[in-house]
Amino acid sequence: MKTDLAEPLGPRDLVEKYSVPGPRYTSYPSVLDWGSLPPLEAWIASLKEDLGRDSRAALYVHIPFCERRCTYCGCNTLIRPQHDGEETFVEQILVEWSLLKCHLRLGNIPLGEVHLGGGTPTYLAPENLERLLAGILTGPHAGCQASIEVDPRVTTREHLAVLARFGFRRLSLGIQDFDPEVQRLAHREQSASLVADLLAAARCLGFDGINFDLIYGLPGQTPEGLMASLRTTLDLGPDRLAFYGYAHVPWVKAGQKGYRDERVPDAAARLALHLAGRETILRAGFQEIGMDHFARPEDGLARSLHEGRLHRNFMGYTETRAQPLLAIGPSAISECSLGFRQNERELSAWAKRLDAGELPAFRGHVHDPEDLLLREHILNVMTRFATDWEAASRRTPFLHGIEERLAPMVLDGLVEISGARLEVTPRGRPFVRNVAMAFDARLARRQVGTSFVHSKTV
Ligand SMILES: C[S@@+](CC[C@H](N)C(=O)[O-])C[C@H]1O[C@@H](n2cnc3c(N)ncnc32)[C@H](O)[C@@H]1O
Repeated sequence: MKTDLAEPLGPRDLVEKYSVPGPRYTSYPSVLDWGSLPPLEAWIASLKEDLGRDSRAALYVHIPFCERRCTYCGCNTLIRPQHDGEETFVEQILVEWSLLKCHLRLGNIPLGEVHLGGGTPTYLAPENLERLLAGILTGPHAGCQASIEVDPRVTTREHLAVLARFGFRRLSLGIQDFDPEVQRLAHREQSASLVADLLAAARCLGFDGINFDLIYGLPGQTPEGLMASLRTTLDLGPDRLAFYGYAHVPWVKAGQKGYRDERVPDAAARLALHLAGRETILRAGFQEIGMDHFARPEDGLARSLHEGRLHRNFMGYTETRAQPLLAIGPSAISECSLGFRQNERELSAWAKRLDAGELPAFRGHVHDPEDLLLREHILNVMTRFATDWEAASRRTPFLHGIEERLAPMVLDGLVEISGARLEVTPRGRPFVRNVAMAFDARLARRQVGTSFVHSKTV
């Protein structure tokens, strides 16, 4: 029988249609659409206002160093096998922190969250990590949630003991993949037993909310290899999993240039890896938390999703929405009601600005009213898989075209719209970046082509 209804697209066709370059939406507007740097005076005034409102800030400290280069890595890193200059770096971080407190005229900034990221924060020797934390966590920070990214190959029990003493309970382990061939190509060899030992030590010290970072779509990855890797992962028993799509941006990241094209999974292979991995993770009892993230139902991240507190910012998904986000260290991005400011990316440029007694931001953005509104919709899509523009206060002229922009996704069963409410369907979850893009006015207005700027959405 002939029918007017088209056959639903299969996974391969969906990827072909929707795998386009797009932002990851750890911020809106995304960095490429930023305007100008907020002036210092207005910036400080806005920070103060936010602090007055919420009273507890989130702090991100960027420690860019790694001992070796992982070839796939897309992060802002500095390879320093010799560990020279660690002490100087800690001093510089503390200078930046003091400068900030000085500008805010505060002896102590109350913190609700602290996150150390990199690079590799546990690259620092335990005594240097201790000096850094002692210099920052000086006042009463009871209830402050502290977390850190660690590379199991360089993290010791001494590191963990220092962190536990400063109240850290959340740990994110860089795993990526246990498959030996993938590890060989990634220049990152680490065994399951090394990870198991570190995990046992962390559990003994009271760490919970332990996350593993895994990546699908890595060069050399196969479905069988990834499944074996996931079995190893699930046996080890993390509380959370990040399951990132490999961002292949060899035009920006030199380490990725060495991959032969045929070793990099194509779009269809990536989707197959993603779907198989996601199903395995869900079947193991994890819940999907926004994009790329999963957590056990009893974990804090899953609870915050159910209680409507889940937030997304430059640190990824967080359990609460602390404002402002203060960020120190080279390339770190701060956020407050006024907008964003990003620090100098190069270590030397960052240090030079600090030497001159300046807060070392070099670019940023001042939100306009449309940004603030669209940012909420994008956040809703990324943290709740749903949003609505029923109330006039949640509408902006750009949303007049929203149904039209989403129409193909409605037809393909990726989203459902009823009235002025949108919901991403389970089938649509791998395409959540595409849904968010429909709310991205700045991306839509950008004149230049976006290919070779962002990584692929799926
Ligand atoms: C700052 S990095 C890693 C922390 C630590 N240095 C380590 O390697 O264990 C944070 C995470 O970003 C993810 N990541 C890095 N490069 C990526 C890429 N090109 N595509 C997708 N995810 C990436 C990895 O999962 C990594 O664990």
